[in-house]
Amino acid sequence: MLNPQIITIDGPAGAGKSTLAKEIAKRFGYTHLDSGALYRAIGYAAREAGIDPADEEKVVKLAKTLKIELKEDRVLLNGKDITGKIRTPEGGTLASRVAQHREVREVVVKILRELAKGKRVVIDGRDAGTYIFPRAQLKIYLTASPEERAKRRYEELIKKGYRVNYREILKEVIERDRKDASREFAPLTVPEGAVVIDSTGKSLEEVLKEVEKLIDP
Ligand code: DC
Repeated sequence: MLNPQIITIDGPAGAGKSTLAKEIAKRFGYTHLDSGALYRAIGYAAREAGIDPADEEKVVKLAKTLKIELKEDRVLLNGKDITGKIRTPEGGTLASRVAQHREVREVVVKILRELAKGKRVVIDGRDAGTYIFPRAQLKIYLTASPEERAKRRYEELIKKGYRVNYREILKEVIERDRKDASREFAPLTVPEGAVVIDSTGKSLEEVLKEVEKLIDP
């Protein structure tokens, strides 16, 4: 049992990381840092500015000028709430593309470390336990089968009113896994010392029970 200052949750897209992180934040009094939201905000800003996400130099230059804030569940870009605009399948793909660039990652990591100063934080991402906070006291690697993850994304998007196709989403999930795991800088891997939780076929409550055993009340 631990009373960690920093909890990291890594894992592939759609494993339920942000839902779990939010719940841990609520139950144990942590601040939730959603690292994917920062990449999504940068991807969105690049698209709005007409910048090709593959153009590292331009994306980095832009990223350095942005003011991104995480307020509860909302994401503000230069003071404007863009939450609904970035939590879309396209927002995820754009995020994954800008996240390929080393310097973009460095900008994001700096922001995240700054946000975490002096707070108890739970952070979800792809490299939270390996790169952003390698000395975190509790590291979780949350995963689930690609089919299960695609099904969850599909249901979530349908609920939000998007017209989506399960096969397309599954294809996107597999492609995003491949990109996130094969990128050169800070790829998605299981951090050393992480507790691996497979959420396939498990409810949020069941996963939380496993996590609760790892945290001191
Ligand atoms: O967690 P998410 O779906 O909001 O993340 C969107 C994309 O951002 C994901 O495909 C990869 C990238 N990402 C990353 O590279 N590193 C992180 N720590 C978080 C997200």
